[in-house]
Amino acid sequence: MKSIVIYYSQSGNTRKVAKAIHKGMRQVAGECDIVQVKDIDPSSINQYDLIGLGSPVWDGGFTPNVRIFMKEVPQQNGRHIFSFNTHGVMPELYFPSVVRKLRIKGFTVIGMRDWYGSVHFQIAPKPYFTDGHPDEVDLREAEEFGKEMVEKSRRIHEGETNLIPPLPKFELTPQLLVLLEFYQSGHNPHGHLHFDPKKCAYPKCRLCEENCLMGYIDLSVDPPKFGSKGNACDMWMGCTFCELICPTGAISCDWDAVMEENARLGQMFGYNPLERAAQEAVAMGRLRKLVTEDIKGPYYKVYSKRPRFKIIKEHQ
Ligand SMILES: Cc1cc2nc3c(=O)[nH]c(=O)nc-3n(C[C@H](O)[C@H](O)[C@H](O)COP(=O)(O)O)c2cc1C
Ligand code: SF4
Ligand code: SF4
Repeated sequence: MKSIVIYYSQSGNTRKVAKAIHKGMRQVAGECDIVQVKDIDPSSINQYDLIGLGSPVWDGGFTPNVRIFMKEVPQQNGRHIFSFNTHGVMPELYFPSVVRKLRIKGFTVIGMRDWYGSVHFQIAPKPYFTDGHPDEVDLREAEEFGKEMVEKSRRIHEGETNLIPPLPKFELTPQLLVLLEFYQSGHNPHGHLHFDPKKCAYPKCRLCEENCLMGYIDLSVDPPKFGSKGNACDMWMGCTFCELICPTGAISCDWDAVMEENARLGQMFGYNPLERAAQEAVAMGRLRKLVTEDIKGPYYKVYSKRPRFKIIKEHQ
């Protein structure tokens, strides 16, 4: 059985899980490829019998680069795929949306699984409820999941079609209401990023260019190109990774204003939806909380020095 794991990972969590799944698959299938989504031609997936597709959960779904990749994949006729993700306590919308998309593409979705992942996001609390994940326990589970997917694919091919999971049900979650509010507001709720060439250390530094998932940055041209707008980024539903990793502060955003707007949204519920989701996940035994420190406040205040986040090479 020819198999492959395809993934995107911005801050390293999904990559760790993808590698563990790959390890498990190799043990059962003999060989298995693993590749980042940017390094594979969408039509080349037709040479595989089984595909594992992983993404962080972003606003309840695929990251935009994974979404574009999937759009470009040729129409399928039942090829086996399984879906996995990492997330920070609000994954509920992911499988209902992603599994439907994969089915429409003609895949047979043979399994799905999610794991918690640490969160590095300017307006998120710090430490975050899921920090420390995925840990050794998660990665052992991921390895087992990889083995299970290869075995399940074989059995389905041999006729045990009852092993194909049903479509996950949609739920009305607080996040769906927040997303609706974002959508109706007509602008990016996660911050509008600006680029100041005077503070930029290019070509000594190329971090933002190398790590923009959308290929929106080209600092080699005159004038330099930054973000979805050419000199700013307001990618719909946000990303803001380049602001996190920029070592000089050349990329910036008014986070206080973003926090204010989000606080207004919080008033819709009368409680903090993230905190509530984390408490529920702990109470139901889904989340093994690994952090013990008190929450100090939004990430951008805790990490006020640049860069806010250092990329670990092995995570790329
Ligand atoms: C733009 C953005 C949107 C996110 N949206 C969600 C979300 O809807 N639900 C959730 O539980 N976590 C969300 N997260 C948290 C990530 O899913 C989580 O940190 C994930 O483990 C990151 O994976 P990575 O390290 O592979 O990039 C979001 C993070 C970012 C940067
Ligand atoms: S915020 Fe930065 S890294 Fe993210 S898409 Fe925009 S330019 Fe790229
Ligand atoms: S990360 Fe910052 S300093 Fe580095 S190239 Fe980008 S804008 Fe310039």
